[in-house]
Amino acid sequence: MCGIVGYIGNRDAYPILIKGLHRLEYRGYDSAGVALLDQDLKVYKKAGKVSGLENFVKDIPLKGTAGMGHTRWATHGAPSDRNSHPHSSGNRKLTIIHNGIIENYATLKEALIEKGHEFKSDTDTEVLIHLVENIQEETKLGLKEAVRIALTQVIGAYAIVIMSSEEPDLLIAARKGSPMVIGVGKGEYFIASDATPIVEYTKNVIYLNDNEIAIISRNNLLIKSIDNVVQTPYVHELELKLEMLEKGGFDHFMMKEIYEQPRSIRDCMRGRIYPQQGRVQLGGLKEYAEKLKNIDRIIIVACGTSWHAGLVGEYLIEEYGRVPVEVEYASEFRYRNPIISEKDLVIAISQSGETADTMAALELAKDKGATIFGICNVVGASIPRITDAGVYTHAGPEIGVASTKAFTAQVTVLTLIALYIAQIKGTVSQSKLITLLTELNEIPDLIEQALKHNEEIKTIAAKFKDARNFLFLGRGSAFPVALEGALKLKEISYIHAEGYPAAEMKHGPIALIDEEMPVVFIATKHSSYEKVISNIQEVKARRGQVIAIVTEGDTEVKKMADYVIEIPQTDEAFLPLLATIPLQLLAYHIALMRGCNVDQPRNLAKSVTVE
Ligand code: G6P
Repeated sequence: MCGIVGYIGNRDAYPILIKGLHRLEYRGYDSAGVALLDQDLKVYKKAGKVSGLENFVKDIPLKGTAGMGHTRWATHGAPSDRNSHPHSSGNRKLTIIHNGIIENYATLKEALIEKGHEFKSDTDTEVLIHLVENIQEETKLGLKEAVRIALTQVIGAYAIVIMSSEEPDLLIAARKGSPMVIGVGKGEYFIASDATPIVEYTKNVIYLNDNEIAIISRNNLLIKSIDNVVQTPYVHELELKLEMLEKGGFDHFMMKEIYEQPRSIRDCMRGRIYPQQGRVQLGGLKEYAEKLKNIDRIIIVACGTSWHAGLVGEYLIEEYGRVPVEVEYASEFRYRNPIISEKDLVIAISQSGETADTMAALELAKDKGATIFGICNVVGASIPRITDAGVYTHAGPEIGVASTKAFTAQVTVLTLIALYIAQIKGTVSQSKLITLLTELNEIPDLIEQALKHNEEIKTIAAKFKDARNFLFLGRGSAFPVALEGALKLKEISYIHAEGYPAAEMKHGPIALIDEEMPVVFIATKHSSYEKVISNIQEVKARRGQVIAIVTEGDTEVKKMADYVIEIPQTDEAFLPLLATIPLQLLAYHIALMRGCNVDQPRNLAKSVTVE
């Protein structure tokens, strides 16, 4: 949520900053801005996308070997030129970019106004830079000490970069609750919300911790805590590759990521399953095998698509591991005094590993003594750094704001965890584990087959692109798939869509059905096949239009449905991995036909680092 990038070195900063902003645009795209430090400090900013900013500055000579850039997802203050970052101090000597929320900004602002400060924007960020200015005015301290003191007065979450025209060889960065990575080059440093703007310049990065301040000059980096204690940074080597951040011949990241799923699921399973031996190996959980054997209850906390993956996990872990599972929205869980003890295992699922509510839910569970695990995609993110143990999804960077390959990788990890618990507890026989793992191993090939129906799905999309509502129905583990199908469509095409358990339809949504209502059924040949057929008949009797996801070769549903999309036969355990694919493609094509920006849907951001 909000992307920040900074540079100090000997190269021209602007090309580095603007490229970085393009890479970070998935974090928010309400406005964009850059500040460059040459002889003096220059700030350029514009409401709208990064390309709008580029256009705005195209005829201006942009000089400076130090600078910062920001792409915004608005919290305080509507998207506009004046609310865009960077924000400057009253004396125009200081400038700041910020990701997060300063919760006590109103109190600070009031005090600053009394001291004569005038504000140009409605943002909380501008208050922070005036606070630094005020401290400098009153104490005559240098930038690094003034920033440190200002941060001791701030309540909230932030990742910030600050520059001063009076100390041109200095960038100050700090974080609390919002991610920040520092790239270490030769005579140069890079700062960003994640490693994507950095990877083409250096593989050596430092992840700043909460309550740390980085004092960065061209040839030196000093990290201190907010309490002024010098820290020893650990330099990580990035595994990220540049080609992972490009569209690779596809028109959109979302389509690239949909088509990457056979690969991402293979990567997710690599070295973790041994089908012939009927064995699952999860290195990250090894030390917790005994705990998992005796665990009484698992609570899964997540948001958005990750919450849907959690629901699939509930079916799988209860079915195979025979452990009761509860799945909670992290945002609800954290505020309702949940009953948790050291006997519980709390698993957070998060693609980004940064979602504020999910982080807070985990911290709460940790305080109450629970063991906490993480299932994350971004290596080194905040969640994997606070958990006791975890499993990375290894799906590779997901750039499209609507999650696709991250979801199926999360479901894959949950499947592995369910079978791992079953193996440890002996709740599934060895021969059944061999059968299941052999079939799981083939899922990437089956997804490749499911993707071959893309053209048919496009034809179906054309028929429904003008629909105003959509209903998605499924039973068992196909219910969370229905929720995910509805969310995908809603997120990127702005069509109202609801996911429902198929049998619950008659308790409400059936009232909505008429000839204008498309209903997507997951009607594969599994345990509730006959029952879903009855639900399809109920919709047809009310003249609803039925699009059904069916098992290859199905003849029954074909007789009733208006349109069918086939997916290969698989064990019911792996149905969510396959049934999701056509729903992703359907949402993609409908959104595109409606002229929507599928990679950057309005109002959304990929990584939600505010509550
Ligand atoms: C945002 C994204 C969703 C994502 C959710 C949770 O809303 O747009 O795609 O599912 O956050 O994010 P996380 O990174 O925790 O999985």
